[in-house]
Amino acid sequence: MKIAPSVLAADFSNLACELKDIEEGGADLVHLDVMDGHFVPNLSFGVPVIQSLRKRTHLPFDVHLMTYHPEAYLDGLEACHAHMVSFHVEAVPHLDRMIHNIKDRGIKAGIALNPGTSLTTIDQVLPLLDFVLIMSVNPGFGGQKFIPYSLDKIAALSAMIKEKGLSIPIEVDGGVNKDNAALLKKAGVAILVAGSSVFGKENRREAISALKV
Ligand code: DX5
Ligand code: ZN
Repeated sequence: MKIAPSVLAADFSNLACELKDIEEGGADLVHLDVMDGHFVPNLSFGVPVIQSLRKRTHLPFDVHLMTYHPEAYLDGLEACHAHMVSFHVEAVPHLDRMIHNIKDRGIKAGIALNPGTSLTTIDQVLPLLDFVLIMSVNPGFGGQKFIPYSLDKIAALSAMIKEKGLSIPIEVDGGVNKDNAALLKKAGVAILVAGSSVFGKENRREAISALKV
């Protein structure tokens, strides 16, 4: 199980130290939430902040674009060597084109699905994807409660991937904590995104190892 702490819950006035803390604490990736105030009702940070963080950590960047026109961010993300980038199926009309646009840059491509969005929306493009991000809260804010039906959705996606003879990691984002980590693993999750359950704790190493079930 890989752990990707989300900096949305970190101290924005002290991001360099926050990153160092999770890197030393055993994080596998750092999850970076870009919001545009339109696709989701909140703003976070954009590419310039991500670019300046590149100097501060060796952790691979897992960028979650909660935006319309996610293609507009790709030049900047390529320049800072993002490891993986996800965009929302609800925000993009041309899924196939967008996936190739990411992969042609040597970046792993993922599609994110809101809680209420059906798995059938990604059926055709599944073989093209490097990962799938299942949102287990309505995106836009940290610290929300895990939506229970996400668990069945993850299990169904896991079965769908196997049925097609594929091997695609499932990432889950929203309300992840030490109480649901084991269930999520059982349902087929490979990457846990965790904001408040890592940055909201004093001891980040303990918080990260509590999620590594
Ligand atoms: C929510 C973001 C998440 C958020 C998760 O829209 O995509 O990555 O930071 O925060 P927690 O883990 O606190 O639910
Ligand atoms: Zn996220």
